[in-house]
Amino acid sequence: MEPGYGAILLGSDRVENFEESKRTMSKGRSILLAVLCGCVALGVGVIIGWFSKTGLTEEDRVALDKFRALVRDADGTVRNTIMDEIDSERIRENLRELARRPHMAGTAPDLEMAELLRQTWLDNGLDEARLVPYDFLLSYPPMGEMGENNTVVTVDGVGYEFNDTRTAHIEPELQGDPDAPQFFYAFSPPGNPVGELVFANYGRPQDFEYLEKNASINCTGKIAIVKYGRELRGAKATNAAAVGMVGVIIYPDPADVNVPGLPVYPDSWFLPGTGVERGSALADPGEPLTPGYPATDYAYRRPLGDVDVFPPIPILPISYNDAQEYVRRLSGEEVPSGWNGSLPITYRLGPGFTDDWAAREVRMNVYTNTSIQRVYNVIGMIKGRVEPDRYVMFGNHYDAWVQGAIDDTSSTAISLELTRVFGNLATEGKWRPRRSVVFAAWGAEEFGLFGSMEYVEQYAKLLGERLVTYVNMDVGVSGNYSLAVGASPSLRNAIYEATKRVPSPHNTPDKTVYDDWAQGKETPFIGGITLSTDHSSFALRVGTPVMTMAYDHDKTGYPIGTAYPVYHTGYDNMDVMERFVDPDFSVHRALARTAGELLRYLSDEVLLPLEWEQYVPVLTAGLNATETDYGTALEEQGIRLDGLSSAIQNFSAAAAAFQDILDRVDKDNPIQARMVNDQLVAVNKAFIDTNSQHVFFKHVLFSPPYCTVGTSNAFPGIVDAMCGGPQGEGWEEVKKQVAAITFTIQSAADALNDVDSIAGPKW
Ligand SMILES: *[C@@H]1O[C@H](CO)[C@@H](O)[C@H](O)[C@H]1NC(C)=O
Ligand SMILES: *[C@@H]1O[C@H](CO)[C@@H](O)[C@H](O)[C@H]1NC(C)=O
Ligand SMILES: *[C@@H]1O[C@H](CO)[C@@H](O)[C@H](O)[C@H]1NC(C)=O
Ligand SMILES: *[C@@H]1O[C@H](CO)[C@@H](O)[C@H](O)[C@H]1NC(C)=O
Ligand SMILES: *[C@@H]1O[C@H](CO)[C@@H](O)[C@H](O)[C@H]1NC(C)=O
Ligand SMILES: *[C@@H]1O[C@H](CO)[C@@H](O)[C@H](O)[C@H]1NC(C)=O
Ligand SMILES: *[C@@H]1O[C@H](CO)[C@@H](O)[C@H](O)[C@H]1NC(C)=O
Ligand SMILES: *[C@@H]1O[C@H](CO)[C@@H](O)[C@H](O)[C@H]1NC(C)=O
Ligand SMILES: *[C@@H]1O[C@H](CO)[C@@H](O)[C@H](O)[C@H]1NC(C)=O
Ligand SMILES: [Zn+2]
Repeated sequence: MEPGYGAILLGSDRVENFEESKRTMSKGRSILLAVLCGCVALGVGVIIGWFSKTGLTEEDRVALDKFRALVRDADGTVRNTIMDEIDSERIRENLRELARRPHMAGTAPDLEMAELLRQTWLDNGLDEARLVPYDFLLSYPPMGEMGENNTVVTVDGVGYEFNDTRTAHIEPELQGDPDAPQFFYAFSPPGNPVGELVFANYGRPQDFEYLEKNASINCTGKIAIVKYGRELRGAKATNAAAVGMVGVIIYPDPADVNVPGLPVYPDSWFLPGTGVERGSALADPGEPLTPGYPATDYAYRRPLGDVDVFPPIPILPISYNDAQEYVRRLSGEEVPSGWNGSLPITYRLGPGFTDDWAAREVRMNVYTNTSIQRVYNVIGMIKGRVEPDRYVMFGNHYDAWVQGAIDDTSSTAISLELTRVFGNLATEGKWRPRRSVVFAAWGAEEFGLFGSMEYVEQYAKLLGERLVTYVNMDVGVSGNYSLAVGASPSLRNAIYEATKRVPSPHNTPDKTVYDDWAQGKETPFIGGITLSTDHSSFALRVGTPVMTMAYDHDKTGYPIGTAYPVYHTGYDNMDVMERFVDPDFSVHRALARTAGELLRYLSDEVLLPLEWEQYVPVLTAGLNATETDYGTALEEQGIRLDGLSSAIQNFSAAAAAFQDILDRVDKDNPIQARMVNDQLVAVNKAFIDTNSQHVFFKHVLFSPPYCTVGTSNAFPGIVDAMCGGPQGEGWEEVKKQVAAITFTIQSAADALNDVDSIAGPKW
């Protein structure tokens, strides 16, 4: 970008960290170097008895060189090389090629993309690049042109279909494209339910309750039409089925996805009346037939009938153009306030239609069905120079519902450029990181995080030993406004430091990505770990420190409905990216530089830039919230939180004492560095309760609870036990959970204690 930004940053006192001061000291000072080498040589000589009065022999010199390589710290000038090398036009070309056509998981273009990534990574100089195969239960609409179509149509009493009321099954621009999926929600059961139509707002439990109780509509046997958003797709079907409904039609109301008065695509990136969001309707992420184990060819697959995460009734998305024709003909009362969207019609509840549609019902023709498909993760590696068995991993999913230029091909395009830059540095002998850098392109994320979750299930033990950080990207570039980050507490400072070193994508030479992100606040916002993307299993199953990041648009004035207007539709394409989101690809470059700098920083510093004391406020706030929310109820049951409180105090004490351990570390002793690095990672992993009943997620702080009773989700195990049943067995389960969490937090404290504390701390 601006020439000389590196110098500006390096010279600026904004960048104040250990690494910088160390570099300035050692840079270009040959005398100092000589003295330093002398000292190290002395050390080595004394330790292993090779010291000779007459000076170093050739053998000694070789040994010394090897030793120095072990303790050589990160060279910050590599940062500028990486940043200079990252080329926005190459990222643009990557995206143009990769988002050229739809590439839904398991289809031919998806498999071709996996192979293309593997081959390009190898060509780019990675030491390894492999395809890791799985057999996943996926779900497709009818594919190809000749078959049936997923549609809604009105019918008369004898089932005659009024074809002029048939809804569209694909965006007109994609009609005839053999790889483009029709409108569908993955894992909907196939079926052809017929019933009167009822407008059910967002399809939440309270919406159906209103229909049945306040509006006195008997929902049994009816079909709901609901607006997109505010509730998971599959949950809308579960809620509708609970009141006896037989099908759910979903449409994106413009009020929830667009900004009123602004033009739609092709004149902007707002959703036109022909676009429809695809998506997964699974209740929980993870391959449904192989819970707890990887979906390998030899895996045990439970019978389809045993799967409890599918929507119970057919569910199908349609466009708002089509929805308008149905909703405007509904009979019955007008909807209550807050239920209407912004279509230019009067919204009514139904049931059924008025006027010339009066005798008609609605028929859903849903041909969506499951099938087992071969899908690959692509895993590549630059082997570490000193610690090849310690991995820093960067990953994003490469599958998309349609072309997915934003979600998530923008990340794949960036990852491809990073492999080129890192691969070149390694093959040209200019730089090889201390630890291994692993690149991952996940398959079938859109269906429910399948690629990353099955990979974590497959390699949980190995990753527990070796993985020190996972950096994720998803919906890479959806705007030019600000970075958006979710992360483990231990990565906060590393993320702040890295983003302070990357110039802003805007034409503001003295501003950084950090400045854009902070928006004038003292520290920028970092969210928690969610189930929305591929970092979750690393964090919640293995306990790896993780983060995910994206460059987002300014959401002020935007409705809540969706990630961005054309999300998961046939309009998330290269044209939208080039004309409306990131015309000069400067945002892509800034995000690539941020990722590149994070990978360099985390993989090359002798001491891992991970924090540990950031867990203290999380734990104390969690305890406080638990006491506030459930204290009285627990007390009534004789359940005390003293042990939990003690474990948290012990953790706080261990965290305070760990700084001393760190201060004492001799960074010129690679074994000592490795010792504290292992502790820095271990403390994160210690929050995993391997005995947790949750088949996928075992983190005692960050796993999402199944249900909520109060406002606090601090300890999901306690929350789940409480909403699982307030009496009898429920309270026994709460007691068990409190003890398990106490033990797990104490284990995290133990992980931080000095190595001689195997029988407990000394205080
Ligand atoms: C499905 O739609 C295609 C157009 O995309 C059409 O050619 C085909 O006849 C339709 N199938 C049926 C069964 O109507
Ligand atoms: C309506 O469409 C269906 C499916 O495309 C077709 O089978 C049927 O013949 C059509 N009916 C009429 C009356 O055109
Ligand atoms: C529905 O009825 C309940 C109880 O009769 C009432 O409290 C509630 O306000 C009503 N809801 C709406 C949205 O009118
Ligand atoms: C609702 O409709 C169903 C099906 O028509 C019927 O069996 C049921 O008795 C009705 N419930 C009420 C409360 O009217
Ligand atoms: C719902 O209708 C009211 C009254 O017509 C209108 O003022 C309001 O803007 C509508 N809501 C939306 C989201 O358009
Ligand atoms: C859906 O697919 C399953 C296998 O995945 C098969 O057993 C079932 O018969 C299919 N259902 C329909 C309606 O095609
Ligand atoms: C960000 O993008 C918007 C919309 O494309 C544009 O109007 C705005 O100028 C851009 N902002 C910056 C700082 O480049
Ligand atoms: C504990 O929680 C209460 C109520 O939420 C809050 O007012 C108080 O500030 C919290 N105390 C601490 C130490 O966080
Ligand atoms: C906390 O540490 C103290 C002192 O070692 C110990 O007595 C106590 O049992 C620890 N708490 C827990 C929950 O293990
Ligand atoms: Zn995505």
